[in-house]
Amino acid sequence: MSLRAIGGKLIKHGTTIIKQANRGKVPGKPPTRAICHSVAPLKSSAPVRESEFLQRNKYYVFRNLGIQVTQKARRVLIEDVLNRVGNKTESGVLHKSPRNSFFGNSAPLLSLVGVAAVGQGLLTKDEELEGVCWEIRQSMSKIQWNRMFHPAQNTAENSPMNLEGFTFGKPIAKGANAVVYEVATNIPNNVGGSTEFPLALKMMFNYDIQSNSLAILKAMHRETVPAPVYFNCHGIADYELSFLNMTRHLPPHPNIVKILSVFTDYIPELEKCREMYPAALPKRIDPAGEGRNMSLFILMNRYERNLQEFLDLQDELSLRTSVVLLTQLLEGVAHMVAHNIAHRDLKADNILLDLSDAKTPLAVISDFGCCLAEKSTDLSVSYTTFDIEKGGNTALMAPEIISKKPGPFSKLNYHKSDLWAVGAIGFEIFGLPNPFYGDKTVRLSSMTYSDEDLPSLPQSVPAIFNRLLKNLLRRDPGERLNAEIAANVCQLFLWGPSSWLANASKFPSYGEIVEWLLNLTAKVLCESGRKQGNRHSLTYPEYLLISTFLCRVKLQNIKAALAWIRDDEI
Ligand SMILES: Nc1ncnc2c1ncn2[C@@H]1O[C@H](COP(=O)(O)OP(=O)(O)O)[C@@H](O)[C@H]1O
Ligand SMILES: [Mg+2]
Repeated sequence: MSLRAIGGKLIKHGTTIIKQANRGKVPGKPPTRAICHSVAPLKSSAPVRESEFLQRNKYYVFRNLGIQVTQKARRVLIEDVLNRVGNKTESGVLHKSPRNSFFGNSAPLLSLVGVAAVGQGLLTKDEELEGVCWEIRQSMSKIQWNRMFHPAQNTAENSPMNLEGFTFGKPIAKGANAVVYEVATNIPNNVGGSTEFPLALKMMFNYDIQSNSLAILKAMHRETVPAPVYFNCHGIADYELSFLNMTRHLPPHPNIVKILSVFTDYIPELEKCREMYPAALPKRIDPAGEGRNMSLFILMNRYERNLQEFLDLQDELSLRTSVVLLTQLLEGVAHMVAHNIAHRDLKADNILLDLSDAKTPLAVISDFGCCLAEKSTDLSVSYTTFDIEKGGNTALMAPEIISKKPGPFSKLNYHKSDLWAVGAIGFEIFGLPNPFYGDKTVRLSSMTYSDEDLPSLPQSVPAIFNRLLKNLLRRDPGERLNAEIAANVCQLFLWGPSSWLANASKFPSYGEIVEWLLNLTAKVLCESGRKQGNRHSLTYPEYLLISTFLCRVKLQNIKAALAWIRDDEI
């Protein structure tokens, strides 16, 4: 058996393990895209069962599934893959590492997998190694899918929703276009739930769109781009919703906000509505209000804080936390670019944080209200008149967008504009003010700055990040790395062998890179469900970050990132 086949086997078993672990829990087919909306308000529709919502508890999902994955992964690895490796190779590694040890410390297992992959020199051709990479991508995508999407969420998506199904708590925050409330399902939480309101509902302000579901959906469809929801057409014919087929859909990703459902309904009278958003209220609630009767509602996971609030509250982040946050944002942007979607309004208050892990925050990109997701565009749009919108906040608008003048042949190219914004937010993450914010006398303008004007990060931050942020902020988008390679730079810094990063050392071969990737795969498979406490164990968001990387990994892009880190020619 060639090592390619062994790699494949390892991965295939990984997939089987996950399938087995979830048998009877996760429906076989992935959720379909949908919009669930109610034309008539307050019409009864089956409320989502409380138990289903309670089960959405992240820890339940992660831990329970993780433990099953760990146990089955180890068993299959030992019983099948390792036996085959042992039989087919004459390394004698199996004799040196007693099998029992695989039930405890996974280090021997990891080294064995690595040795098996490359050590025997059976896998030599680049295509074979790319093939193993492909297997890793396939397998890890499935693992992530299963971890992120508990059946309860699918049920939420499959249940028609309107406001009747929820109890509202306090307002969480008001943005420029919407207010977000904490909510729970209507059935009382009698399982001693720690969070009384585990969900968040965003209510869009509607000043000028007529109170009609179709019109509202048409006008606000960008907000729904990351929603894995389905069409539940109360009163709207399928053909009327066909306009939504013109918009791209952003598949779920750990660093993109988790939207559970989207629907239209009548604006209710809610706590603090008169103080917080009187103008957006309809006249039936406040005679002085200018809002329409109906609007769009977006049901999401509830996150603890936005990045702005988080940074304001922290004195100083550890280097590890800063790098993880930056990597998560780059992974989110790489995912959007891979699906030809530009966010166009990235800023710290549109980035939300899940802080359920005490050590490591999990960042998600949120608020897609300004995104570019038309199927006809591919990240660049004609810019013939000033009326064409360029996107959200101008302070973090990339130079190639903000300085573009309209004309018959003019185009706005968004391929690297979100990446530019992440470069600017990166300064905030590493503890400096955003160079494009603040008083006119001190801040840089993205319209006029030159590359040399950018500040430097403190000496305490490894130089690679100074280079990386400055690269992302290059005026010329052609000189910026692309999002995948930028994310690889951070992933290599976090998990790569440190000897690879020094430019004096030998450049790793494809074989060595694949060995490392298999080690990482084994690490995620074998360790991620375990209780933390071991000084080598990572946090859940860290395992998730590695699997995000493995889901999209390509040898070429790792080589390109390494070459950039080592300052070699790409
Ligand atoms: N799912 C959520 N969980 C917790 N807070 C949220 C959530 N979504 C939004 N928020 C809070 O509400 C604020 C405004 O939301 P946002 O979607 O950015 O609205 P707008 O389109 O008006 O800018 C965010 O900055 C954040 O503080
Ligand atoms: Mg916002």
